[in-house]
Amino acid sequence: MRIPFSDFKNIVFFTGAGMSAESGVPTYRGRDGIWESYNWRELACQEAFDRNPEKVLKFHELRRKAVLKCRPHRGHLWLSQLQKKRTGISIITQNIDGMHQRAGNTDVVELHGSLWSVRCLCGKEEILSEFYPSYRCEKCGVWFRPDIVWFGDSLDSQIIEKALEEISRCDLFVSVGTSSVVWPAAGFPLHAKKNGAYLLQINPEPTELSHIYDTNLRLPASLALSEKYFPIEKYFSVIE
Ligand code: OAD
Ligand code: ZN
Repeated sequence: MRIPFSDFKNIVFFTGAGMSAESGVPTYRGRDGIWESYNWRELACQEAFDRNPEKVLKFHELRRKAVLKCRPHRGHLWLSQLQKKRTGISIITQNIDGMHQRAGNTDVVELHGSLWSVRCLCGKEEILSEFYPSYRCEKCGVWFRPDIVWFGDSLDSQIIEKALEEISRCDLFVSVGTSSVVWPAAGFPLHAKKNGAYLLQINPEPTELSHIYDTNLRLPASLALSEKYFPIEKYFSVIE
C-alpha cells in the first residue's frame, strides 16, 4: 500500500506509546503495559505525590534511567528526516520520553508533558536533558514534581490549543501507536476528520477508533514510517 501523498500540504503525526515500543520503552496498556504491573494510584497522580513524594519520584527516576538506555528507532529517524526535508510536518505526541526530540525532531507538541522537565507549586520550571536525581526547589524547599500530566491532572490549555490548531490545518492525520482511549487525545482524530483530513492509523492491532480511519496500516511503527509507505521523493514537494 502507498499513500497518495502528492496533494497533502499539512501532515500531523500523532504518536502514542506504541511509537516508542520498538525502542524498548514499554507501552501503558496491553500485556507488558506499565499499568499492568504498576498501580498509577500510588505512582502517577497528585494525591500519591502528596502522600509519598519519595515513592513517586523514585518511580520516575527509574523511568528516566530506563528511557535513557533506549534509542530512537528507524521510524523516529525517518520522521526526523521528513521534517527536515519538507514543510508542513507537525508532531503531536502523548509520549513523555523525549524520543522524537532525541531523533532530531523540533517543535514537538508534548500533550502529556515530559520526563525531562520539572515544576514547583511556586511556578518555577526547569528543563533537564540528562539523567537527574529528584531535587527540591531552592525557593520553597519542596520537591520538584515531574512536569507530566498525571491521572486527574488537566492538560495545559495552551498546548491543547496549539495541537487543535495544527490538527484543524492538516489534510492528512497519521496516528501512530496509540490505543486512543485517553481523552482529550482520543478526540483528535475525530477533530481531524470533521475538518476534512484523510485519516491513517499505524498500529499492529485494531483500536477502538479503527473504524473512523480511512486507512489502517497494521504494521509496527519502525516498518510503517518508511519510504516504502510514504514515498517522500516521489510524491512530496521536497524543499531541498
Ligand atoms: P497505550 O499503551 O494505551 O497504547 C499503545 C498502543 O500502541 C496500542 O494500541 C498498541 O497496539 C500499539 N503498539 C504497540 N506496539 C506498537 C508498534 N511497534 N508500533 C505501533 N503501534 C504499536 O498508549 P497510549 O495510547 O500512548 O498518559 O496511552 C495514552 C496515555 O495513557 C499515555 O500518554 C499515558 C497513559 O496513561 C500519561 O502519561 C499522562
Ligand atoms: Zn518552588
